[in-house]
Amino acid sequence: MTDYPLIIKQMQALSEVSADPTPVMANVSSLLYHAMEDVNWAGFYLVKDGALLLGPFQGKVACVRIEKGKGVCGTAWDEDSLQLVCDVHAFPGHIACDSASRSEIVVPVHRDGDVIAVLDIDSPLPARFTEDDAAGLTALAEAMEAIIKQGEAS
Ligand code: SME
Repeated sequence: MTDYPLIIKQMQALSEVSADPTPVMANVSSLLYHAMEDVNWAGFYLVKDGALLLGPFQGKVACVRIEKGKGVCGTAWDEDSLQLVCDVHAFPGHIACDSASRSEIVVPVHRDGDVIAVLDIDSPLPARFTEDDAAGLTALAEAMEAIIKQGEAS
């Protein structure tokens, strides 16, 4: 099982106060990709100009732009809700960046109540992600929001 409290501590230790959230997202991608078992992609899509644009990530190359409401990421943004997908083939409109992916979890990241990005993690195993992952990643996203907020105030 993934030790999310440890990853959150590592993220906080690595973060420097900066107005740009890119370094935080880049290190979170790496921390998750290397700490989680059976994961083939971990990273961010950023809300930009009315769509999701590929942000910092670890894993194989991925699609660059996702429209609002499209795929798992676009749905998480549109509905502002965590998406826990046990079988990506059963998700209507799933966008297959890596054909090896079988399950996926997507968590919205906020600033002042608005979704500014989504954290997306893929696995080659069906039903890889559980409610424990959902809770752990929600806590991680909230801790990251606080770091981003602190950076903006600086
Ligand atoms: N599967 C995602 C697209 C992003 S890749 O998995 C990295 C989706 O359906 O939104």
